[in-house]
Amino acid sequence: MKAMTVKNIFVHATLIFGLMIVSGCASAQLIRPTAIWPDNRGQHIQAHGGGIIKLDDTYYWFGEDRARDNERGRRYVSCYSSKDLAHWTFRNQVLKLADPENFGRGWVLERPKVFFNAKTKKFVMYMHIDGPLPGQNGGYGLARVGVATCDTVDGDYQYLKSFRPLGQESRDIGQFIDDDGSAYLIFESRPTKGFFIAKLSDDYLNVEKEVSFIKAPLEGGAVVHYDGLYYVVASKMTGWAANPNVYATAKSLEGPWSEFRDIAPPETKTYGSQSTMLIKVVGTKTNTVIFMGDIWKPSTQWDSRYLWMPLEIGDGKLRLPEPREWTLNIKTGEAVIQK
Ligand code: DGJ
Repeated sequence: MKAMTVKNIFVHATLIFGLMIVSGCASAQLIRPTAIWPDNRGQHIQAHGGGIIKLDDTYYWFGEDRARDNERGRRYVSCYSSKDLAHWTFRNQVLKLADPENFGRGWVLERPKVFFNAKTKKFVMYMHIDGPLPGQNGGYGLARVGVATCDTVDGDYQYLKSFRPLGQESRDIGQFIDDDGSAYLIFESRPTKGFFIAKLSDDYLNVEKEVSFIKAPLEGGAVVHYDGLYYVVASKMTGWAANPNVYATAKSLEGPWSEFRDIAPPETKTYGSQSTMLIKVVGTKTNTVIFMGDIWKPSTQWDSRYLWMPLEIGDGKLRLPEPREWTLNIKTGEAVIQK
């Protein structure tokens, strides 16, 4: 065999490097928990307390837009899109809502979640709507969900109504879409000292039926169906302050649910974050479940950060690893945490 010349080595190296780029190795973008997360415009993503849906090969992330230059009386929801869950393109401020029902000064819109209804072809947004009860001067007394709809995923959503799901007080909401496409709203309800997983009506405009009531005073509820088991993650109720988030499992969404256990060493208080959603990435080699958490900065909300990490999950156990930069191969489903 002929000895390799310097020129040959150079040609081989260039080819290998070129192949790496084509196969995506060199372009894998780091997901950096706790850091500023710039969108395609270089601006920190404003999608706090958010939710994600996937349409074909595109993910859409909706969340609270707390940008500093937003009008004070309005509440905003923004939408971003991505094909790899790492690079996000700003699409639109899909809701720029002025107080829609005379809720009063200091009214609240939090944790928006969008569902796509395949029958009506409508996008349906749920949001936690809150504000003072008549005669009160502030606070979270109304405890309702609001609904807005749109014909396109990133168009201007029209506010429709608000109500108390299943007649219950409702504060933090979460969304869960099962593998068969059924859509559920998760909502916390203080007087019952627990939270509900409830099925949406056919047109998604109402919350139709209690599927599970989990008697544990928890909020920030998120569910994933993984390897034959349902896992629910939730946070304790400590306002904007971080606390040790917990998880439980069940064979069926109806329960019975196991005891709750910590998802991370309790002294880390979930590494300063609060659960918002669990996303399952189904790949050709493996499935990865991502913990999507918020790191709240209550007095500078526009600067609130995100803690997304791939979970260690399986056989009824779930663990949030210590946050580090990581990459996700959206095709194979593999997540690699940096050393
Ligand atoms: C905790 C909730 O999870 C947040 O969404 C927000 O409602 C804060 N409480 C407000 O204190």
